Amino acid sequence: MDNKPIWIKHAAQLATIAGGTAPRIREGMSDLGLIEDGSVWMEDGKIRAVGTTAELEERYAERAGEAEIVDASGRLVTPGLIDPHTHVVYGGSREKEFEMRLEGATYMEIMNAGGGIHATARMTREATEEELFEQSARRLDSFLAHGVTTVEGKSGYGMDLETELKQLRVAKELNERHPVDLVPTFMGAHAVPLDYKGREEEFVDLLIKEMLPAVAGEGLAVFNDVFCEVGVFTPGQSKRILEAGKEHGLVPKIHADEIEPYGGAELAAEVGAISAEHLLKASDEGIEKMAAAGTIACLLPATALYLREEAARGRAMIDAGVPVAVSTDCNPGSSPTTSMPLVMNLACISMRMTPAEALVAATLNAACAIDMQDKVGSVEEGKQADLVMWDVKNYQELQYLFGVNHVEKVWKKGEQVVG
Ligand code: NIG
Ligand code: FE
Repeated sequence: MDNKPIWIKHAAQLATIAGGTAPRIREGMSDLGLIEDGSVWMEDGKIRAVGTTAELEERYAERAGEAEIVDASGRLVTPGLIDPHTHVVYGGSREKEFEMRLEGATYMEIMNAGGGIHATARMTREATEEELFEQSARRLDSFLAHGVTTVEGKSGYGMDLETELKQLRVAKELNERHPVDLVPTFMGAHAVPLDYKGREEEFVDLLIKEMLPAVAGEGLAVFNDVFCEVGVFTPGQSKRILEAGKEHGLVPKIHADEIEPYGGAELAAEVGAISAEHLLKASDEGIEKMAAAGTIACLLPATALYLREEAARGRAMIDAGVPVAVSTDCNPGSSPTTSMPLVMNLACISMRMTPAEALVAATLNAACAIDMQDKVGSVEEGKQADLVMWDVKNYQELQYLFGVNHVEKVWKKGEQVVG
C-alpha cells in the first residue's frame, strides 16, 4: 500500500452519512450528514479526518505538503456503495432465457422445466475454480467501476456439497485477491435439485446434516440464506434450515415473498434474520413485524423491473419504520446487472424513495444488512477509506440523471482503484 496520504478538498457536497452504526429508519434515512466544501484525509487505508476544507487546512497545516491532493470542486463525494445481496460467483450465462421470457414464458416455468437456477448450477458445476474466479472477478471489476466497494455474494449454484464449497472457496479467494470486499453467504437452499423432486424433505435433511456443518466448519460463510417461495422451500422448511444454520453461527437471511405472498417477511422477523430480501409481495402484517423486529428490508428494484413485476413497497416500508437497504441482486437470471447507481435510481422511480433515502439504503443500511457497519458505509474517522467521487454537483443530481454511470474516481482502502 502507498503510504502517501490522500487529501480530498473542496467537494461541493460530501455526504458523510455519519452518526452511529445502527440501521437508519424513518427520518434517519434522509440524514446524509452533508458537508459543503467538504474534505477528507485518508492514510494507511483508513479515513483519518473529515470536515470542511477550512477545518482540515487548519488541522493538517504542518503536513499539507506530504499528501496527494484531489480537487473535488463541483463534485459529490460519498462512501463507497455497498451491495448487500448478489449471486456474483456463477458459471455461464442465460441470455436465451431472457428471450424466452420476453416471448411469454415465466421465470418459474423456466426453472421448473430444469432451466433457471438449475441451468446455472450445471454451468457452475462444469466450470473449474479458475474459470469461476476469472468470470466473477470481471463482474467485481464492473461493480468497482460503478462505485461499489463491498459486496455480499451467495453460493447456491451447486446444491451439492462439492459445488457449494467450490463457489464459496472462489468467493474467499476473490475477497483476498480483488480490491472489492466480498462477504460470503451460504445458499445451498436456493432450489431443490431436480433429482430430489418429490423428496424435498430429504434434501432439507442433507442441507442440515451435511452441508451446513461442512461450510461452517471451513469458515466459508457468515450468513445462511433460503429461497422461501411457493414451489421451492416452504416456510416450515426454511425455518428448519435457518434455525440449523444459527446453531453453526450462521446468521439468517431470506429470499422472501418474491413471486407470491408466502409469509416470508413474517418468518424473517420470527427467526431474527438480519435481512429479508425482495419482498415484492410482502403482507402488511409482515412489514409491521419486520419493523418491530428491526429486520432490514433488502429491496431489489432492478430484479422487479427485469421480471416486469411491480416493485416492492419501499415507500410504505420506510413509513412503517422498516430499515431499508437496496441491492442489485446481481445474478444470471433475474437481474444480470452490477449497477448500484441504476438501483438507486430505480429505488426513487419505482419505489418512491427520496434521493437521500436511496443513498442511505445503498451505503450505511446496506452495510448493516451484511454486518459491516463498523468498517464501511459512512465517511467517518477510523473507517476504511472507501470513497467515491461522482461527476455530479449534489446527491439529487446523482439520482436525477438516471441510467448513467457518474463515477469519476473510486478509492478502496485508501488506494485509488478507478479514474
Ligand atoms: O434472487 N430468487 C432466487 N434467486 C435469485 C435468482 C437466481 C437465478 O435466477 O439464477 C434472485 O432473484
Ligand atoms: Fe437473490
